[in-house]
Parts: sequence; structure tokens; C-alpha cells
Amino acid sequence: MSYKEVYEASMADPNGFWLEQARAIDWDRFPTRALNDENAPLYTWYGDGMVNTCWNAVDRHCEAGRGAQIALIHDSPVTGTIQKITYDELRNRVAMLAGALRAKGIEKGDRVIIYMPMVPQAIEAMLACARIGAIHSVVFGGFAAHELAVRIDDCKPKAIIAASCGIEPGRVVHYKPLLDGAIEQATHKPDFCVIFQREQEVAHLEEGRDFNWYGFQYGVEPADCLPVEGTHPAYILYTSGTTGAPKGVVRHTGGHLVALNWSMKNIYNVDPGDAFWAASDVGWVVGHSYIAYGPLIHGNTTIVFEGKPVGTPDPGTFWRVISEHNVRSFFTAPTAIRAVKREDPKGEYLKKYDLSCLRALYLAGERADPDTIEWAQRVLDKPVYDHWWQTETGWTIAGNPAGLEALPVKIGSPTVAMPGYDIQILDEAGHQMKPGELGAIAIKLPLPPGTLPTLWNAEARFKKSYLEHFPGYYETGDAGMIDENGYVYIMARTDDVINVAGHRLSTGAMEEVLASHPDVAECAVIGVSDDLKGQMPVGFVILTKGVNRPEAEITSECVKLVRDQIGPVAAFKLAVVVDRLPKTRSGKILRATMVKIADNQEFKMPATIDDPAILDEIRDALKSIGYGG
Ligand code: COA
Ligand code: AMP
Repeated sequence: MSYKEVYEASMADPNGFWLEQARAIDWDRFPTRALNDENAPLYTWYGDGMVNTCWNAVDRHCEAGRGAQIALIHDSPVTGTIQKITYDELRNRVAMLAGALRAKGIEKGDRVIIYMPMVPQAIEAMLACARIGAIHSVVFGGFAAHELAVRIDDCKPKAIIAASCGIEPGRVVHYKPLLDGAIEQATHKPDFCVIFQREQEVAHLEEGRDFNWYGFQYGVEPADCLPVEGTHPAYILYTSGTTGAPKGVVRHTGGHLVALNWSMKNIYNVDPGDAFWAASDVGWVVGHSYIAYGPLIHGNTTIVFEGKPVGTPDPGTFWRVISEHNVRSFFTAPTAIRAVKREDPKGEYLKKYDLSCLRALYLAGERADPDTIEWAQRVLDKPVYDHWWQTETGWTIAGNPAGLEALPVKIGSPTVAMPGYDIQILDEAGHQMKPGELGAIAIKLPLPPGTLPTLWNAEARFKKSYLEHFPGYYETGDAGMIDENGYVYIMARTDDVINVAGHRLSTGAMEEVLASHPDVAECAVIGVSDDLKGQMPVGFVILTKGVNRPEAEITSECVKLVRDQIGPVAAFKLAVVVDRLPKTRSGKILRATMVKIADNQEFKMPATIDDPAILDEIRDALKSIGYGG
């Protein structure tokens, strides 16, 4: 079938189309219908089916005779180790861990936070939760204790599974003290913690509360897979919104299984048995969908990579991993390719490796700039596919369905809408715009399976954030256009979310931290263009009246505060003191205009600005830190 036929079938009969795709999954009870639209605009999928994620990701492959196939390869240049785990071994490890969790009282629906670096145990912990119907919430290791505490209080986990440490180039990340700090800060306390002690650092265990990963599994009965409803939450993943409070994106079990399985062949073009690699982190949605679940559900070999694109040890690392593990499809963020390109512009490192196994490179997480795509196409001599999606959707909204029908690549566009996504460009009043016109990108409801049905414990916020602005649509928060041939172009965010090195961050959250500094009266954070990371946050602070300490002292305290409160991942390194901030007459800070000044772009003087002279002051402040030349 052609892409067009498949897409049209998904639009004409969503229920029939997605019921058909569900046949690729092993159900304990096959659903009688796919879509439930009785509570529109809230939709759910596969509600009367019964299914288990871990069975589909692990056990069924063992039963089908693939037990000896490598399920997971942990390639860790930061520790100098490579470990391979077969599907049979994975089943045994996960069943034991699940059994130990159950023995300590974890039941279906209980939440479990996972705070771990890129080790196989992180994936095993996710699968162990899935095996017994517990709902996991993985928190990225680059977040500080405070961010972890916020998530503990929101999802109220019965248990937390963590590692003793993570390893960043040049430093050990002490997870355990961060975890202890978070539990101390949080109002909710978990019943117990399970700590995976790594060789690189053994952490102190709190008597009675903390258990050792291995010791706690001693003598337990391995757990079988517990079938759950298709609408049972598989996980909660927090992502940045406009305010400091992260949004708990909920993923339902049935749709997650069906959509990810569909995407592995049709988008990433891999067959069961092929090695697939997403160089991301389990703390992000890419890690959930394409390190942990997608490849395993589809019977692939997944690579768990603990390293960086450069410096571990050199810019040839990606190519070494691809060649050594026979990777067929490779997925990373444009920023990672930019980092490699910067250190190895001629692709000299790449020439050392045989990359004949690699079929294509996939990019997502941020806008893929044409230079990066063209460079990768040139040095790799393979197709480079940009694709667009979000934590909320869990899988591709617009991409190139290369396994179904490879469509011509238009640089600057992530290609076309995937099945089930009716992407439209709307003006402020919600009217559909013409091809080529720029507007807000919205998706006509219902969203396909695998996408978010709601936010954890926050249905009203879910409706307000995504469904109310354009009734009948899901608002993506991105702006862009669609051309005459249906190619989608993503241009910018319409909210205060910025994207730093492929990591989604909230400027609002950083502003909340800056505002807590006793010498800061008012502040604004904007994302300015950065050659490597796409965007970098810059903070502007107005000092409290009467404060007359050196400005540099205060700004460096601000930088430290953001690092301590949000974490190193915020990459917040630049703050500058100003006397005033540009505002509209109604008091709204003109952040978009400030971004234009920083990026040296033309801008229209906002009609509602209260005093245009402030913009010159902002320009000077930016110049003092090397921006807006
Ligand atoms: N645990 C603890 N700290 C972490 C971390 C983790 N898992 N991941 C990143 N950090 C820290 C980094 O050490 C760095 O700290 P520093 O300020 O002390 O140097 C900080 O967070 C910022 O990290 P990052 O933005 O990743 O920058 P970097 O300088 O370490 O590396 C790149 C730059 C481009 C090589 C890197 O950003 C990269 O590989 N990006 C890929 C992005 C990606 O995979 N995104 C996922 C979406 S698909
Ligand atoms: P996240 O939820 O972290 O995956 O971030 C999602 C956001 O990243 C999207 O809303 C976009 O703003 C941006 N994004 C992701 N992929 C792309 C892409 N291929 N092109 C442009 N922007 C992208």
C-alpha cells in the first residue's frame, strides 16, 4: 500500500484502521473496538482490551523462539564496558525484579519513580513495573533534587528505584544524595527505595527505607505478566510547560503498544532481529519510546548508550557503535550531529568505520537546520529523515514513512502527517489557513493511539493547555505551515517553552527560580539562538531597590540557583542585570521582541510597548554578554 492509501484509510475509518493495527500485539482479550469517543473531547483507545506491555516487549519473543537473540546492548564508553543481554535473560531479570517489587507491596496502579542513568537496570525497572501493572515515572538524571521532589509530590510514588551514581564526562553525578534531598524536600514520602549500587560509587543506604537492588531480590518468586485494561496508564512522564509546574503526560497501555509497534517498521524501517539505536536518554520521551519500548515490542535489539556524541572519547563514537553493533536505523537529536560536525567537519573519524549496516539517520527533538542535514547526508551518504513529535504524542506526528514508502526529502520539513494525525494550520480565531501560510499547528481530534489521553491528576489543566484554545483540536504549541503537497514545516514554539540541546525546558520555571533570589525584584528568561545547542537560556534581572552588591556576584548566584534548583540540564549560564524590562502597556513582558534583538533579527516595534527606549537598554545588556552584536 502507498503512504497515501494508508493515511486516507486512517482518516476514513480510525476505528477499523487501528483495530487492524492492534492485531500485531498479543492481547489477553482482544478489544471489541479501538476508539471510545463517548466523552469527547476526551478520547481513549482499546478500553475493553486486556494486555500486558512487558509480555509484548519481552516474553512473547522468548515464546516465539527469539530468546537467544540479544535484546539489549549496553555500550558505555564512560565506563569502558559493553554488556549484551538476551531476551531470555531480560525476561528472567525483569520477572525477578517485578517479583521483588510485588513482595514489597507494589500493586497494579501504584506509582514508582525511576531515577537512573543509562544502564540496563533502568529499562529493566520500567519493564518490571509494566509486568505487574505499576505505573512508572522516569525522571531524567540531569534534574536537581527540587525537580525530583516536585514529581514525587505530584505522582506520589510508593517506591523509588535509583542508581548510586551516573557518570558524566569528567564528573560523577551523585544520584543518591540528590534522591535523599528530594525525599526530604517532598511532602509525600515513598514506602521504600531500591538502589542499584554501581561499581563507580557505592551509596549509603538508609536503614529500613533503602534496599539494595540485588539483595532485595533474594529468594523472591518471579512475577508473571499481569494483564491490564488498554486504558491502564503505562507511565507518567513529566515535561515542561509554560509554568514551573511540570505536566505529567499520561500514556495508556494499549495505544502505546500498537502505535510504537506500527512505527518501528513503517517509519524506522527495521524488521524484528535488526539492531535499532536511539541515542537519547531514558528520562526523555525518545528514550521511553525508542530505547525501551518500541524496539523491544517489535523484537529488535536496542542499544543503551552511556556516552556523549563527542569526548567519549572522540567524535567517532556514534560511528563506532553503529558499526560494532550492526545498527540499521539510527535516531538522535540535531544538536548531537552539530557537536560531531563541529569537531570532525570533514568526517575523518567516520571513515574509520564500516557503516554499510546503516540504512538511515533519523533526527528529532528540535528543528533540524539545513546545514546539519546536508552535512550528515554528505558524510554518511545515507538518507537523513527529520521527524516531528512531542512528549505528549509519544511517537511521530509528521515524518517520512520510509518503511512504507520513502517520500522525497524536502530539507526544512519533517515531511508528512502520520496515520491518524489530521494536522491543520489555524489562525488566531481558529480558521484553517491556506497552504504556505504560517499559523498555529493544531491536530483535529481525536489524536491517534499512543498519544496522551490526559495529564496525571490534572484533567482541567489538560483541557486548558491543549483543548480549549481551538475547540475540536489539540493545540501543539508549535507554529508552522503546510505546503501544497502536504509537507509540514515547524518554525517555532508559540509558548514559553525553549529547546536547549534537544531538551525541552520552561523559561517560566527558570523565572520562578530567579524570582526567589532575595535581591531580584523582577526577571525574564528568553531562549537565544545558539550554534550548537539550538537555543540557550539568558536571564535578565532587575535588582531589588537598595541592593548595591556587585552585579557579577548576584548574577553568578542566579546561575548557581538555577543549577541547584532545576539542574545542570537547564544549561543556564548567562544572567545580566537591567534597570527595566520592555513591557506592553498592560504589563506583559515582550519576550519575543527581546529574542529578536538577541538573534539580530528584524522586528516590528510592538504597538503596545510602553517605552521603546527600553529596547536599546536590552540591546546593550545583551552586547555585554556577547549577544545581539
Ligand atoms: N545527568 C546529570 N547531568 C547531566 C545529564 C545527566 N543524565 N545530562 C546532561 N547533564 C549535564 C551535563 O553534564 C552538563 O553539565 P555541565 O553544565 O556541568 O557541563 C549540563 O547537564 C548540560 O548538558 P547538555 O546540554 O547535554 O550539554 P553538554 O555540554 O554536556 O553536551 C551535547 C552537549 C550537544 C554533546 C549534548 O547536549 C548532547 O549530546 N545532546 C543530545 C541531546 C539529546 O539526546 N536529546 C534528547 C532528545 S532526542
Ligand atoms: P519534547 O516534548 O521534548 O519532545 O519536545 C517537543 C518539541 O520539540 C516540539 O513541540 C517542537 O517544538 C520541538 N521539536 C521536536 N521535533 C522537532 C522537529 N523535528 N522539528 C522542529 N521542532 C521539533
